[in-house]
Amino acid sequence: MLFRAMLVFALSAFAVISASAADAAKKVPVKSARILVAYYSWSESGNTKYFAEQIQKATGGKLMEIKPKNAYPKDYNACLAQAQKEIRGGIHPELTNAPVDFKQYDVIFIGSPNWFGTIAPPAASFLASADLTGKTVIPFFTYGSGGMQNCERDAKKLAEKAAAVLPAKAIRGASVREADKEIADWIGSMLDISKEAEAGFYGFTLKSWDGKEVKTSDFKGKVVLVVNTATRCGFTPQYSRIEKLYKDYHDKGLEIIDIPCNQFGSQAPGSDEEIHTFCTSSYSTTFPQMTKSDVNGDKQIPLYKFLKAQKGTEGDIRWNFTKFVIDRKGDVVKRFEPAGSMDELESLIKSLL
Ligand SMILES: Cc1cc2nc3c(=O)[nH]c(=O)nc-3n(C[C@H](O)[C@H](O)[C@H](O)COP(=O)(O)O)c2cc1C
Repeated sequence: MLFRAMLVFALSAFAVISASAADAAKKVPVKSARILVAYYSWSESGNTKYFAEQIQKATGGKLMEIKPKNAYPKDYNACLAQAQKEIRGGIHPELTNAPVDFKQYDVIFIGSPNWFGTIAPPAASFLASADLTGKTVIPFFTYGSGGMQNCERDAKKLAEKAAAVLPAKAIRGASVREADKEIADWIGSMLDISKEAEAGFYGFTLKSWDGKEVKTSDFKGKVVLVVNTATRCGFTPQYSRIEKLYKDYHDKGLEIIDIPCNQFGSQAPGSDEEIHTFCTSSYSTTFPQMTKSDVNGDKQIPLYKFLKAQKGTEGDIRWNFTKFVIDRKGDVVKRFEPAGSMDELESLIKSLL
């Protein structure tokens, strides 16, 4: 009996640990400039406004107050009456805000007071009219005494086009000014807005085959091809085509980062110098080659963690000669598997230059 209890305890402790590890891995990496914090707030005390400002401070995102064309009456009872009428009628009031360029944002916080157990109509209007395709939406609310009620559920319905709606946070309006830490912790559990996330592709330092420091920030404004290579692989002849790409497009702004890796079939044996000599003599390569590195697992270089965490290029590297293409702004635009079309790769590079 005791043993069973201990086992249950141990298993549940394990479940907690593995869940939190999984959560950490799932954090959305995002740059401050790509976060929008939109909110509606009505009362004199501006509870939701305060909440929004705290999110803005913690994330560095852009703050936007949602403004209904016909402001709600200042009188509480009159406001209640109008709000109730609109909510019952499913009315989305017109807003006066200038149109938002949603292409600029990846993460959209949407804040509202709890009105009659749901999201206030102006915030609902914002969600209903927003182009949320591919976005991560994060709702937040303040309330009188009812808690979240249907706020999160209804915001989710309005944001059905979003790629993801992360867990909402509701804070009692009267306590929101004592909740700075709670707000920061909630944000920290979902988003990765570290310096690394901020710098994106340009935040990494690599080492060249001959031991020199290579910063990805040196490649700002260039189109970059990152490829993990091996000298004894069926795909090794791709070195010729990669060198041709470099010859043809380097002047126009193409950079290549070659990362030899011995993790796939041990097909990159030998020292950095031996690998480099092989490539330059057998394939006349002239593009920058790095030191041999891991691209998967515990010892992987941070650049690969980043490359494999981007939308559309996720997942462990499967073999030698996997390629990532980064555009002039530092966005990872495409991943090519080892046998992927080199012609398609070339067309993409051409189109980005
Ligand atoms: C029209 C209206 C309806 C409200 N309905 C609710 C409700 O159903 N449940 C609740 O807990 N609080 C309700 N409240 C209280 C607000 O949610 C709360 O005071 C909130 O913090 C106000 O945020 P604000 O200062 O940003 O306007 C209501 C307030 C108003 C004005």
